Amino acid sequence: MKELDIGSATSTIILISGYGTNLQAILDEITNNHLPIRILSVLSDNPEAYGIKRAKNAGIPTKIINYHRFKNKAAFHLAIEEYFKKIDPDLIVLAGYMRILSEEFCRLFTGKILNIHPSLLPKFRGLNTYQRVLDSGDKFHGSTVHFVTTELDSGPIILQYRTKIRTTDGPKQLRKRVQLGEYEIYPMAIKWFAEGSLKMIKGKAVLNGSRKIIWATPSLA
Ligand code: GRF
Repeated sequence: MKELDIGSATSTIILISGYGTNLQAILDEITNNHLPIRILSVLSDNPEAYGIKRAKNAGIPTKIINYHRFKNKAAFHLAIEEYFKKIDPDLIVLAGYMRILSEEFCRLFTGKILNIHPSLLPKFRGLNTYQRVLDSGDKFHGSTVHFVTTELDSGPIILQYRTKIRTTDGPKQLRKRVQLGEYEIYPMAIKWFAEGSLKMIKGKAVLNGSRKIIWATPSLA
């Protein structure tokens, strides 16, 4: 098995709010020596998030910045900004983080923040995408990895996973299938970033110097 040079690994903070299955997929890829990143910490706004347990099990430092402990949104945002300014990671990975980041945060770390959103962006920004796509009558659904900008779910698209909607699908079935795709595409995009082949340049996602959106092979379609 190839040895990772931890010294040069991309320093990363992962933000979560909940169950953390994407976090787990990333941790598993690191364990398998497939991801050249070093996780400095896993941060949650929610002290009950199961993902915290996953991080602890993997021996990764955790940090809770509990939204409900702050007197207002601005104070919460300031605490987040200060924590990140102090650590200054190479990469910030949103993995089911349910808070909107401040504009200041997005500007400070522009080109360094990745998110995964459960829809084929630009369709279905925001919440409840599974029910909304089923109601819409669309034939496909999926998930998108993108760079984060100040506009919600609107940053440059890096990679998408797509699956055909089945007549038997309810929101739960569809989510299960889409999430299996997420566990493939998110580590893939993180790896590209960590290796230096993926960058955000002039507001576009650029992979190996060319501007393109890559569609993941729908192996689970
Ligand atoms: C993911 O499915 C992702 O699309 C969305 O939030 C969900 C988080 O799930 N941003 P988990 O916490 O990774 O299980």
